[in-house]
Amino acid sequence: MEIFVSPDAAAAGAVAAGILAAVIRRKPDAVLGVATGGSPLPVYRALAGHEMDMSGVRAFALDEYVGLPAGHPQSYAAVVAHEITERLGLDPAKVAVPDGAAADPEQAAREYDAAIGAAGGIDVQILGIGHNGHLAFNEPGSDLDSRTRVEVLAARTRQANARYFSSPDDVPERCITQGLGTIMEARQLLLVVAGADKAAVLHEALNGPVTSQCPASVLQLHPHVTVVADAAAASLL
Ligand code: GLP
Repeated sequence: MEIFVSPDAAAAGAVAAGILAAVIRRKPDAVLGVATGGSPLPVYRALAGHEMDMSGVRAFALDEYVGLPAGHPQSYAAVVAHEITERLGLDPAKVAVPDGAAADPEQAAREYDAAIGAAGGIDVQILGIGHNGHLAFNEPGSDLDSRTRVEVLAARTRQANARYFSSPDDVPERCITQGLGTIMEARQLLLVVAGADKAAVLHEALNGPVTSQCPASVLQLHPHVTVVADAAAASLL
């Protein structure tokens, strides 16, 4: 596992963007796994500054809420479109997000998992970490070999994400998330972590026991993990 520590979140974003840019330069049709949440935003901003042709890049989002009306500004489809597809100049036809509005979300989740495999798998999966150790929306208790599926969000996750909604009650209760087993199949994992509030969970994930109680601890089992953290998040490592 490689760990890069930068003074602040913007600098960490620049380091992660440099890693992604190198992959895309080598493989212009690379398959990226893209995460939402606050931590990876500086990565996409810095990557946009590289001004490369990214029209061949394919991308799969990690997760999506179930039950938001189509086009809701906080749906991950909308966030990915705005923060990633448009910012980086990706071809929208090559960017996939789980269908949280599907009539049968479980079926949509299975199809999404299969689509990642059909694309040849993910070259680099960008990840953030939740305060409770979640990866994507794999909450504590998720099987380490789980596949893309419908999950119920933990109360703490709904609270953390309430900042994006006009009322905490508006945060959906369910989501579709790539499973931990799905994530572990990506050829490289790029974990981006910023802020003192993530220091304890980052330490637990990287140095504690590998357990489904801390889903991000599964990273210890992957052969190619790169962690990019700011100094505050890395303070307990
Ligand atoms: C969200 C996302 C995760 C993200 C995490 C941390 O709920 N589903 O993919 O990594 O929580 O988010 P943030 O970076 O905003 O702290």
